Amino acid sequence: MIYKILFITESPETVNELRRMESEEIGKDIKFLFTKDRSEALQIVSEDRVIGIVADLRYSKFDTRDFLDLLQHNFPNVFRLCLTSPYEREKTLLLAKKFHRSIKFPLNHKELSRTLRDLVKLFNHNLDAVLVEKINSLGPVPVLPEIYLRIQNELSRPSFSMNRIAEIIQTDPLMVARILHIAHSSYYNIPAGVTNLLQALNFLGMDIIKTLVLYVKIFSLNNVSPQTQAVLKEVKIHSMNVAKNSKAIMEKETKDKKAIELAYITGLLHDIGKIVLLQFNEHVKNPNYASNIHGFSSFEFENASYGISHVQVGIYILKLWGFQDEIIEAVASHHDSRILKGKNVSLKETLFIANAFCYDKSELTADISESYGSEKFDQWDHLFNDDIRPALDLPI
Ligand SMILES: [Fe+2]
Ligand SMILES: [Fe+2]
Repeated sequence: MIYKILFITESPETVNELRRMESEEIGKDIKFLFTKDRSEALQIVSEDRVIGIVADLRYSKFDTRDFLDLLQHNFPNVFRLCLTSPYEREKTLLLAKKFHRSIKFPLNHKELSRTLRDLVKLFNHNLDAVLVEKINSLGPVPVLPEIYLRIQNELSRPSFSMNRIAEIIQTDPLMVARILHIAHSSYYNIPAGVTNLLQALNFLGMDIIKTLVLYVKIFSLNNVSPQTQAVLKEVKIHSMNVAKNSKAIMEKETKDKKAIELAYITGLLHDIGKIVLLQFNEHVKNPNYASNIHGFSSFEFENASYGISHVQVGIYILKLWGFQDEIIEAVASHHDSRILKGKNVSLKETLFIANAFCYDKSELTADISESYGSEKFDQWDHLFNDDIRPALDLPI
């Protein structure tokens, strides 16, 4: 299969650079198309099977917002990316909600190539085109929150500053309160003396802070029914518990700080597909979804109701947002006990075990005991029971 990417740009230099890149650095399965014009772009998208459009924001004379709305409405399964330079920073942030990803000028060929490969992988990661279209047809797919993009933007500067990142987060006082609340709720063992955001940033590090920002934002759905809010809150508490368990397991296995952080981050994000399905459910109004969202049975229920599970939606959204493969592979197998082979405890086994222990009397805990032996099982069981704190009661 050939995957077509349409670039909308008025710069002949950029077209030449991309053409060179296409022939020298991009695999034969990806083909670049070019246009300067928005109506021609729509025509190409409707006639050719284009998987993504990349709009060059440096030269857009037309009303980009209208064009993007039209594209999103008529071709929801086409990925939307933008090319942008530091001069379009404000414009990019204004339009942030409309794009799945942004690519910076001057072009970093490796990064662009990786982004395009990511799009292609979406079709191959247990997510064929039919499934992707299905997800897109259920409702608008969430994009990364603006505050997260602002942080990412700051971090990509050669001389980024923690002060500047604190300033960005402080534009949302509720966010600051929530991050400090989480940091102090014993879930990350933050010292009692840490009382302000900048100290918390320095203590937790940027990867954790960034994920907490995302976590807080994705769990803040507006204009949803009280029933959905209640379920959202439960999934939120569950995700925090899984993050905490994952971190505890990894701490027993390794001293590697990055691996421990990754376990925590993966735990926070592992059920993100449920949040997306909950949003979709607001459109389809399936009254049974809220009551079936919990436990391992949710998996079968989702497949029966939507023809897709929160795991597949989770893979899709994390891939779309550019998360690393290791996290995505762990999320992909968090309900699959077949991964428990041998004595290995890498990220994916950690997530599986942490998640299984969050369900009472799950038969999956028997699989864990069988694979790792009763001694190890008891250690983990003890670890979680020993350190269990009251569930978080965060405002939504
Ligand atoms: Fe799950
Ligand atoms: Fe879960």
